Amino acid sequence: MKTLTLLDGTAFPAFGLGTWLSAPDAVYRAVRVAIERGYRHIDAAWIYLNEEEVGRGIGEAIAAGDVTREDLWVTTKLWNDCHAPEHVQPALERSLKLLGLDYVDLYLMHWPVALQHKVVRPKTAEQYLSLDECPLPPTWEAMAKLTESGLTKQVGVSNFSASKIAQIVDAVGVTPAVNQIELHPYLQQDALLAAMKARGIVATAYAPLGSGGRPAGMKREDETSLLDDPTIAGIAARHGKSAAQVLIAWALARGTAVIPKSTNADRIAANLAATELELSPGDMQAIAGLDEGARYVDGGFWCTTGSPYTVDSLWA
Ligand code: A2P
Repeated sequence: MKTLTLLDGTAFPAFGLGTWLSAPDAVYRAVRVAIERGYRHIDAAWIYLNEEEVGRGIGEAIAAGDVTREDLWVTTKLWNDCHAPEHVQPALERSLKLLGLDYVDLYLMHWPVALQHKVVRPKTAEQYLSLDECPLPPTWEAMAKLTESGLTKQVGVSNFSASKIAQIVDAVGVTPAVNQIELHPYLQQDALLAAMKARGIVATAYAPLGSGGRPAGMKREDETSLLDDPTIAGIAARHGKSAAQVLIAWALARGTAVIPKSTNADRIAANLAATELELSPGDMQAIAGLDEGARYVDGGFWCTTGSPYTVDSLWA
């Protein structure tokens, strides 16, 4: 299994299983099957509301002797209502309890967005906290302290722009190991990747297949499907592979980690098999030409009436 090297020299498995939008009963089986097939990296989050079942899959795989805990890489994420420094460690402890683990390998600040404590999804303007009211650096400082407690081996961020990364690193003096961001041929984010590389931050690509399973309310009407893209389809046909496999191989060839989500056993296996696919320089060049700067997950859900966040400020 290909690994990427984190700032402190730790080997980070470049391919993993995404679990956003995986229904609880399905995700238990998905995690169990994935580990059996050879996955060693599972990506979770408190807000996916399925950590308990993800943990059940991991626990059963370990109990069955398929793997040891040390063989696995488990990531989970801090929810936005727990950005106050005093809520950070309890939030990780809650996730660990649900996952049934003593530690995670990586804990990420899920969004550069803060909510009032115990607000899961904001419905009124008052339920948001602006970044002036709840700035990112104190949250990041509390995250960084978690590595001393042993509850997580690494800390990182998600959905962070280059300037927000600079802000927390300058203020706290600790560099995130990973920034998990949306990355696929329609949103290649070369400038952000270059800024991260200059600091030694590894990228994990989310929505690598275009996240087609998102609820209708999160989709644009004019949205084009990556899996139906003619350039990707042409490359896939030439290699005798699927479009999804080309997208996964492309993410790995760029030096990013990638976490395609599936709860289907055949697609779980096919996605892992994509780690063996090598694209040619011509394939990479053709895919480079597909960039549209188009997000599938544009964060518009943080910008409801009265919110202190706008889509522009989110990604700035
Ligand atoms: P399913 O779970 O039924 O397999 P992303 O990782 O970009 O968020 O995309 C996840 C979506 O892509 C899910 O709807 C998932 O459905 C689907 N998917 C996962 N693997 C494949 C594949 N190999 N081919 C086609 N669709 C896939």
